[in-house]
Amino acid sequence: MTFVHATVLLDEAVALLAPKEGAVILDCTLGGGGHTEGLLARGAEVIALDRDPRAREAASLRLAPYGARFRPLAGNFAQARALLDAAGVDKVDGLLADLGVSSPQLDVAERGFSFSRPGPLDMRMGPDAEPLADYLARASEQELAAAIRDYGEEPFARPIARALKARTFADTAELAAAIGGAIPRKAWPTKIHPATRTFQALRIAVNGELAALDALLAALPELIAPGGRAAFISFHSLEDRRVKDALRALLSHCTCPPNLPVCVCGRPGDLRALTPKPVTASLSAVAQNPRARSAKLRAVERVR
Ligand SMILES: C[S@@+](CC[C@H](N)C(=O)[O-])C[C@H]1O[C@@H](n2cnc3c(N)ncnc32)[C@H](O)[C@@H]1O
Repeated sequence: MTFVHATVLLDEAVALLAPKEGAVILDCTLGGGGHTEGLLARGAEVIALDRDPRAREAASLRLAPYGARFRPLAGNFAQARALLDAAGVDKVDGLLADLGVSSPQLDVAERGFSFSRPGPLDMRMGPDAEPLADYLARASEQELAAAIRDYGEEPFARPIARALKARTFADTAELAAAIGGAIPRKAWPTKIHPATRTFQALRIAVNGELAALDALLAALPELIAPGGRAAFISFHSLEDRRVKDALRALLSHCTCPPNLPVCVCGRPGDLRALTPKPVTASLSAVAQNPRARSAKLRAVERVR
């Protein structure tokens, strides 16, 4: 099976990470390997993490020509520090997280992310997550409603949660139909399938996406070396807000002269912003890949 994912903000992310020859970069989201390849092509060594075995397998074939400079790693980026320890790596010179799902994960019906084609109630990015069927059986109606409201920003979260707990579903198409049926017809969104927001919410819940992102952001100072850089590409406001707030909290406001060995102004901080505003995709990139439309890239450099 082919595994093709159109990489978003490739040149922009690689330019911001600016890897020097021999730099060690942690790509937290290997996917189809597009960003990793861009970094390898600049002479970096890339430790490339993904929780999805199919992504690792496909990218390993694609990136085999780079030899030992490409190091695929299994796991969840929420445990990035422990995974680097186990790989014998201390701090890295750069870190990239291109968040969310890859196109093959979304498009292959058997993975259970699709509302248009019937697939199993799965939605796991990797084996470390809980299958959707188990989550739907386990979560209470209130928990489901909260997840659909908070992760999908869906105004009809409560009636949808009620419908999802009222019966079981054979596949994702049945599930999508029940979600549509729980939203008054006149309130159906015009440009997207009525199940889009709920499917996003369920996917985020099943994969613990926001908790994993929070854990990665909290670990950032323990992951990158002084002078190292980190870049985050997010695809919806729930992710971008977390990235923006966490990076801002780590920014340095130090006004000490650069020759002072320690900060004496009382406004230390670990990071300097490299993107005062998020970088977005060009119109031509969006024309080629509509998924790029909502992408926001933020990058920082560790200063101390
Ligand atoms: C948007 S794709 C990355 C695409 C990649 N940058 C490229 O150019 O092909 C996101 C990938 O990150 C993986 N992923 C998402 N969350 C993860 C997590 N918490 N830990 C490890 N991998 C994760 C997904 O399985 C998916 O393969």
